[in-house]
Amino acid sequence: MLRRKHSRLTSRTVPLTFAPSAFKAVALAVAFPRTIASNRSMADSEFAATQWWQTGVIYQIYPRSFQDTPSPSGLADGVGDLPGITARLDYLVSLGIDAIWISPFYPSPMADFGYDVANYTGVDPLFGTLADFDTLLATAHAKGLRVILDFVPNHTSDQHPWFLESRSSRDNEKRDWYLWHDPTQPGDDWQPAKQRIPNNWMSNFGGSAWEWDQHTEQFYLHSFLKQQPDLNWRNPKVRAAIYSAMCFWLDRGVDGFRMDVLWLLVKDEFYRNNPPNPQDLASTLPVFTADQPETHVIVAEMRTLLDSYGDALSENAGAPGPDSRTRASTETTTPNSPHPTPGRVLIGEIYLPLPELVRYYGQPAENTPQLRGANLPFNFHLIQTQWQAEAIAQIIRTYESLLPSGAWPNYVLGNHDQSRLATRVGPQQARLAAMLLLTLRGTPTLYYGDELGMQDIPIAPNQVQDPAEKNDPGKGRGRDPERSPMLWVDAPNAGFTTPTATPWLPLQQDWQTINAATQQRNPKSMLSLYNKLLALRRRHDTLHSGGITDVVAEGNILRYRRTGLPDGHSTDFQILLNFGAETATTLCAPGTVILTTILDGEGSLTGNPDGTSSTITIESGEGLLIALD
Ligand code: GLC
Repeated sequence: MLRRKHSRLTSRTVPLTFAPSAFKAVALAVAFPRTIASNRSMADSEFAATQWWQTGVIYQIYPRSFQDTPSPSGLADGVGDLPGITARLDYLVSLGIDAIWISPFYPSPMADFGYDVANYTGVDPLFGTLADFDTLLATAHAKGLRVILDFVPNHTSDQHPWFLESRSSRDNEKRDWYLWHDPTQPGDDWQPAKQRIPNNWMSNFGGSAWEWDQHTEQFYLHSFLKQQPDLNWRNPKVRAAIYSAMCFWLDRGVDGFRMDVLWLLVKDEFYRNNPPNPQDLASTLPVFTADQPETHVIVAEMRTLLDSYGDALSENAGAPGPDSRTRASTETTTPNSPHPTPGRVLIGEIYLPLPELVRYYGQPAENTPQLRGANLPFNFHLIQTQWQAEAIAQIIRTYESLLPSGAWPNYVLGNHDQSRLATRVGPQQARLAAMLLLTLRGTPTLYYGDELGMQDIPIAPNQVQDPAEKNDPGKGRGRDPERSPMLWVDAPNAGFTTPTATPWLPLQQDWQTINAATQQRNPKSMLSLYNKLLALRRRHDTLHSGGITDVVAEGNILRYRRTGLPDGHSTDFQILLNFGAETATTLCAPGTVILTTILDGEGSLTGNPDGTSSTITIESGEGLLIALD
C-alpha cells in the first residue's frame, strides 16, 4: 500500500559519472579494493561517539574566496580574509555546522595560494594579522564553533628561511632539512649535470619532481611546484621544528589540524625509481614516493602531541599557554604525555585505496584500545567512485568492514582540489548527495558554497590563477573553477567584496539567484535543505552517533538504515536515495517521512498499519529520510 500523501515530479536527467580532476588522478592512482562487505555488524558502533569531531560537522573555508573586508583605508582587494570569516560566523552557526577548517593563511609567496608556507607561525598580510586570527578564534569559540587549521608539513615555500639556508651551501646546518641529491653518473653522451636527474619521480603538478640548483650543483625534490621543496622528515630536527610550530597554534587554542598530503611525507631512502603505471604508460605508480611505512610513526607522534592538549573550548581558549615552546622543544620527536580527555583533532589528507587508508587510524596504544594515528584520515571515496547506487553501497560496506576497532568513519564530498559537487553530479543529485553525506555514519566535511549548490565556473585562459593549470595547461588540472567567491547576497559582487573591487576569481554567473540571502528566503532551496538536514543530524543521536546497517543497492536505489543507540530511546531511520534518471519504487517498513530532498511530502506515512512493508515511490534524484515506527 502506498501511503504517501503527495506525488511529486522531477524531470531532469542527471549524469551518472564524473571525471575527477587530473590533479588528483595523478596523485592518487587509486585502485578500488576487492574486499566486499564482511559479516561484521555495522549496527553497533564499537564505542560511543563522545568527541565533538565525531558528532559534529566540519565546514571547509577557502579563505581567499569566503569574505573580503576592506582595509582600514577603506579599500578592498578582492581576496577574502580572516576578519571576513569572523564577520560570517553567525551564518555558519545558523547553518548548523560545528567546526570550520580554514585553508592556509600563513605568510606565503602564494605560488600555490598558501600551500607554499614561508612562515608556519604567522598570518599573511593579505589575510590579516595574528590579532585578527585570535579574534576569529575567540569569536568562534564564544559561538561554540571549533577552528581547525590547515597545516602543510610535507613542504615549505622556497622562500622559507629554512630553505634559503639549506640551499645556501652544501655544508649549511640546514642542508639536510630538505631532500638534496647528486646528479646521476655521466653516461657516454656526457649530458650536463643539470640534465642527469636522480630518478623518475614526478611532481604532482606535472614534470620531474627534481629541480637543479646551480649554486650548489645538486637537485632538490619537490612533490608539487618547484617553489615547494619537500622537507626531509627523516631528520629529527625537521620533526621537532614542525611540532613546535603546531604547538604555537595549539597553545593559541586551535581545535586541531587538517594535515596536507599526509600520506606523502616520507620518500624511499634509496631513491628507487617508481614502476610504470600499466594503465597509463605516461605515468608511474607512486610506490616509493607515497604511503611509506615510516609515515605511520610520524602520524602517531603528531597524534600524541595533539592528545597532550585538552579540549580548547573547555580550557582557557584563545590565550597562549605558558609552556608552549618548552613542550615542543623538550619532547621533540617523541612527545608523550597523553591527556586524559583529548579534545583536538588530527585529520589527514590521504588519497589511498580503502585498505591502506584505514591503516592511518594507527595501532592501539599499549594496554589501551585507543588507536594512535589520525582521528580522521579523510575518506574521499565518495568523490572518486561512480555516482551510482551499487558503487556507493559497495564503498560504504567495504569501508565499514575495514575500519579497525575504535576507528570513527568520515566522508568528504567536495574540497578546493575537486570539481564542485553540483557540477559533478548535477543540481538535483547534489540534493540527494547532501542527504547521503549528512545521514551516513561518521563525520561529514562540507565545502563552502556546496550548501548553496554552487557550481564550477568557466575560466578563460587569461583568468587562470592556479599553478596546476598554468604548469600544464588544457589538461583539466586547474582548480580555479571550484574556488570562486562565496555568494552572499543579491548585490554587486554578491557581497563577497565591495561593489567596486575586483574579486580574485570571477563570480558564478547566476549569483543573483544562487546567493545565501535569496536561498534563505526560499523554503525549498538547497540551503534550506542543508539547514534541515543539519538540524536533524544534530537533533537525533541516531544520525550523529548511531549505527548503520542494511546498506544495499536495489537498481538505482541506495538504501540503508541508521540504528539507534543501545539505550532504546532513539529512533531508527531508513534512508532511500534514487540515483536513477527515472522514478523508482521500493519497499519500506512502517514509519514517517521526515525529510525529502525536494522538500515536499514530509509527514507521509510508509508501510502498512499491520506492521508490514509497503511500496513507496521515489522520484528521480530524490532522497527520503524516514523515521521508523
Ligand atoms: C594538497 C592541497 C592542494 C595543494 C597541495 C600541495 O593536496 O589540498 O591544494 O596544492 O596539497 O600543497
